[in-house]
Amino acid sequence: MNTRFTRRAAMQAIGASAAALPLSSQVLNAPTPPQGPPPKGPTTSTPEDRARRLQWWHEARFGMFIHWGLYSIYGRHEWVMENEGIPVAEYEQAAKRFNPVPNAPRAWAQLARRAGMKYMVMTTKHHEGFCQFDSKLTNYTAMTACGRDMVREYVEAARAEGMRVGFYYSLMDWHHPDGALCATDEAARRRFVDYIHGQVRELCTNYGKVDILWYDVNWPLKPEGWEAVKLNTMVRQLQPDILINNRTGIPEDFTTPEQVIRASDEPWESCMTMNDSWGYQRADDNWKTPKNIVRNLVRCTRDNGNYLLNIGPHADGTIPIESVNILTEVGRWMDTHAALIHGPVDPCNVKRSQFSDFIVRGNKLYATVQFWPGSEVWIGGMKTKALSARLYGSGAPVKVEQSDFRLRLSGLPATPHDPMVSVIEVEFDGPPAQDAMQVRQKRARRMVGI
Ligand code: GLC
Repeated sequence: MNTRFTRRAAMQAIGASAAALPLSSQVLNAPTPPQGPPPKGPTTSTPEDRARRLQWWHEARFGMFIHWGLYSIYGRHEWVMENEGIPVAEYEQAAKRFNPVPNAPRAWAQLARRAGMKYMVMTTKHHEGFCQFDSKLTNYTAMTACGRDMVREYVEAARAEGMRVGFYYSLMDWHHPDGALCATDEAARRRFVDYIHGQVRELCTNYGKVDILWYDVNWPLKPEGWEAVKLNTMVRQLQPDILINNRTGIPEDFTTPEQVIRASDEPWESCMTMNDSWGYQRADDNWKTPKNIVRNLVRCTRDNGNYLLNIGPHADGTIPIESVNILTEVGRWMDTHAALIHGPVDPCNVKRSQFSDFIVRGNKLYATVQFWPGSEVWIGGMKTKALSARLYGSGAPVKVEQSDFRLRLSGLPATPHDPMVSVIEVEFDGPPAQDAMQVRQKRARRMVGI
C-alpha cells in the first residue's frame, strides 16, 4: 500500500479531518508495523561494551538539542496543545502551514559546528504526536504536510557538518487516540505500544547509523507497559552502537538531568534551554548570556558530564537570532578553549572559590575564572604543590607562591584576557587537591606572609 500522499491530497486529508474524522483515527487503519527479518547484532550490553560505546560521547561533551514541531507555528511553547487545551482536530490544522525553508537543518548543523558542538538531538516526534519523519504508521507527518522528510534532511545535514546524530522521541503522545487510553484499556495499550515500537523501528532502520536515541516522557505507562526491554533490545539489534537515555524508565546508557547541572556516578547529560522554552516561544525573552552558557559548559566538564543545549527554531526552521548570537559568542570562546572542554577529565575536588570553577586533568588544574579579580588571585587550602602557571591560550607566565593555606597567582593582566571566562593553567606535582576545611581549622589568623 502506498502511504505517500501528494501535498494536495495531504492537505485535503488534513482539512477533511477537521470536519469529520480526526486524522489520528487513521492511525488505526495504518498497516501493522513492519516486522522484517530478525535483526543482527547483540541483544545485551556488557559494561565494557557500554564504556566503549560511550567514549565518543564523553569526548564530545557538548551537543545541540533541537525542539521543532507544529508548536513552532503557534510560537507559544511546545506544550501549547496541552496547556491551552487545544482539541486534536484544531491543532492538526497547523500542519497546513508547515513549510520549512530549504536546507533549514543545514543551518542548525553549521551553527552547532561553529559553537564547538559535536552532536545533535532533534525532536523526531514531540508530545504533540506530529512526526518529522516519513512514518508509514500515520499520516500525521512532515512528509504528508509538506512532502519532505525533515528527519532525513536533518540526518544528512548533521553528517555533512561532522555531527553525530541523535533522535529525540516522545513516548507520550497527545494525538494518538490510544495515547492516554492505553493506561486503562488493554486493547488500546496493545495498539499504542505496537505503534510506538513500529515507529522506533522505522527510526532505527531508515536513516543509517543513529548515534543516540533520546526518549522522553513515559506517561502514562510503566516500563513494563511500554515493553521497554523488548523495545530497547530491538533498538540495539538494529543499531548496535547506539546510546539510549533513561527516559523509558529503565536506566540504559546515561541520565538526563533537566535544566540543572547535577553530576552523578552514571554518565550524565544536562539538557538546558537558552531561554525558558524548548519549543519556539516568541514572547520568551529570558535569555541566558553567552557567559552563563560557557560557565555551564565548564561546570559540566568539571564533573565529566555532557551539556545538551537547546534551540527552538521558528516554524520555518530558521533559528531565532538570539540563539544564533549566543552560540556565535560561545563558538568564539570555544575557538581557543575546545581542547579544555573535549576529552576526558579527572575527578575534581577543587571547588571552593568565589571567582572560579576548576577542571582537573592529570597534574593540571585549570581555573576557569568568571569574575576576574585583577592582577592576582588566591586559592585556599591547596594540598598539592604548584610548580608553575600560565594563561591558557597565550601561555603568558603567571607567578606562583604557596603556603600550607593558600596559593597566590600573580602578575596577571588587570583585566581578563577573555571577556567571558578566562582560564589559568596551574601545574602541580601530583593530582591537584583542595582541603578548604583545614584552613578554617588550622590557620593561625595572626600569621603574616602568605
Ligand atoms: C520535558 C518536556 C519537554 C521537553 C523535555 C526536554 O520533558 O515535557 O517539552 O522536550 O523536557 O528534556
